[in-house]
Amino acid sequence: MSSENSKNFSEESIFKPAKAFSKNARISSMAQYKRMYQESIDKPGVFWAKEAKELSWQKKWTKALDWKAPYAKWFVGGKLNVCESCVDQHLTNGRANKAAIIWEGEPGESRTLTYRQLHREVCQFANVLLAQGIKPKDRVMIYMPMTPEAVIAMLACARIGAVHSVIFGGFSADSIVDRLEDCQAKAIITSDGGYRRGGVVPLKANVDEALKKYKSLETVIVHQRIGSASCPVKMKRGRDLWWHEEAAKASPQHEAKAFDSEHPLFILYTSGSTGKPKGILHTCGGYLTGTYATCKYIFDMQDDDVYWCTADVGWITGHSYITYGPLANGVTQVMYEGAPNFPDFGRFWDIVEKYQVSIFYTAPTAIRAFIKAGDQFPEARDLSSLRLLGTVGEPINPEAWRWYHEKIGGERCPIVDTWWQTETGAIMISPLPGCTPTQPGTATLPFFGVDAAILDETGQECKANEGGKLVIRKPWPSMLRTIYGDKKRYRDTYWNDYPGIYTAGDGARTDKKGNFWITGRLDDVLNVSGHRLGTAEVESALVGHKVVAESAVVGCPHEIKGQGVVAFVTLKAGIKTSDALAKELRNHVGKVIGAIAKPDEIYFAPALPKTRSGKIMRRLLKELVEKGTISGNVTTLEDAQVITDLQRQIKK
Ligand code: WT7
Repeated sequence: MSSENSKNFSEESIFKPAKAFSKNARISSMAQYKRMYQESIDKPGVFWAKEAKELSWQKKWTKALDWKAPYAKWFVGGKLNVCESCVDQHLTNGRANKAAIIWEGEPGESRTLTYRQLHREVCQFANVLLAQGIKPKDRVMIYMPMTPEAVIAMLACARIGAVHSVIFGGFSADSIVDRLEDCQAKAIITSDGGYRRGGVVPLKANVDEALKKYKSLETVIVHQRIGSASCPVKMKRGRDLWWHEEAAKASPQHEAKAFDSEHPLFILYTSGSTGKPKGILHTCGGYLTGTYATCKYIFDMQDDDVYWCTADVGWITGHSYITYGPLANGVTQVMYEGAPNFPDFGRFWDIVEKYQVSIFYTAPTAIRAFIKAGDQFPEARDLSSLRLLGTVGEPINPEAWRWYHEKIGGERCPIVDTWWQTETGAIMISPLPGCTPTQPGTATLPFFGVDAAILDETGQECKANEGGKLVIRKPWPSMLRTIYGDKKRYRDTYWNDYPGIYTAGDGARTDKKGNFWITGRLDDVLNVSGHRLGTAEVESALVGHKVVAESAVVGCPHEIKGQGVVAFVTLKAGIKTSDALAKELRNHVGKVIGAIAKPDEIYFAPALPKTRSGKIMRRLLKELVEKGTISGNVTTLEDAQVITDLQRQIKK
């Protein structure tokens, strides 16, 4: 959001972890970090092999890394079942009766699953999937609320070698269709509905609507979260099955077969600069090693911690830091179904107090919403169980950082600002809580094995405080392996700027101490509430409406969301503009993509600013919404009157 503001931050605002924290932390001094970091960069294979060895493997690998840029294979020849590291191993290491997931539903009910119970549920559901003929590498879509069953479904897929693709429950039926078509899914696991802000999200009904368009799907398994009275569903005979009925017929025993380290684990769709989302493919051995090690060192997970990540399993944060990383570490975690402000803004802090949460991981956008709601909410709860805080999704603005530090962390908890992406699979740049001096707005230093740098257009490394492109120069275990079904897009998107080097798509700079300051996306991708949204996706949703001739979408600064969505729309001839039409178009985008994509502002433009060759000049529109005027060169503009017209509208 506003790392700009942080440039002049003085030395006093540097926070050093307290001795009491460092003493028990895994990495307790900068000297230790620097030594381990250097070793991990000099010999990445040695560093990562040591981490991987702490997981369960049925067959050891012969080679840590096989790198033929841009294709990596990690732990070549190794065989494992991801589920064994996340669940089975804890049955024999003393954690069998330890709480794995403490779940709270939005209406207030609570349920705890021990590792032994989780194992039983996962095995049983794996048998349900097998009974439906799901085979290794088959794609299975998951569209569920935040319930333990979502995690169980993911783990059951992993257990039988099927490839899950989770779709965030806030996405629309149309978004489901696109993703189903792209990955050619064989089955969907869903729920009748989920609770959100007191209402019910009709997930199964959305699936039904999607399946009117995607007909080749064989099986829908429906978990009953709500119950028939408040959420009636139609079950199609021969296609739709109830989770509980099938589970009742299935054995709770299942032997985990080993899969190749490079066997696909999941596909997760994320936005890019075209209208078509990218199916990011992750594989087993490397991904698990990356998520495991980052949880261990960055969240400093200890056996008596109660960890809570507030993300949804529909995003990468939920995959890496709810399902895989924390469970591989055998930690106890809290999972919450609903909205942070239901019934009011005290809900998160009630949960922290009730379950004595010690590690808390959330997004800057949530923190800003809490600040706005008022200090009385956290102040009325006992938050003394917290020992470590984290953020993810966007740069954290200094005001939010300081509030989080004081009001939530009681000035004693280190804050880890973690930079990473769907593509990186695991955290890449972050403080280590027991040693790294932190400062509002910087994600600080690269994690072990991560060779991060800032390069200029010519491929030279930028000097301190010089802005450039954030890149990763060496492969890392949890990196994406490809874009599902589109190798060319994989190479073009990430590996085209500099040979053999991964381009993240973010602008950044380092300061004199080597801290990384991320300034935001360099492509046409917005960051709305910590979620990626392609401007092209919103544009294509808009032109899909019958009255729209053309549209251009840009981001604008937004107090809570970080970035908001502004759409410029040219209507077809003869169509009259109105507030009602603007509202209809907003809802249309919500219906095509999902509520997060709804434009905050729609401007009707008689024409869009274009170059003489007909290219929309988004740069000008961006400047207009940010500053209300245009300063730069507009000589390439085909019709300058267009800008004057828009300017007048925006002022209003
Ligand atoms: C993009 C990735 C990683 C899980 C959540 C989002 C931005 C993420 C930070 C941070 C500054 C950040 C980047 C990145 N981003 N974390 N700590 N500081 N920017 O995952 O949807 O794949 O988005 O989010 O722009 O490229 P994603």
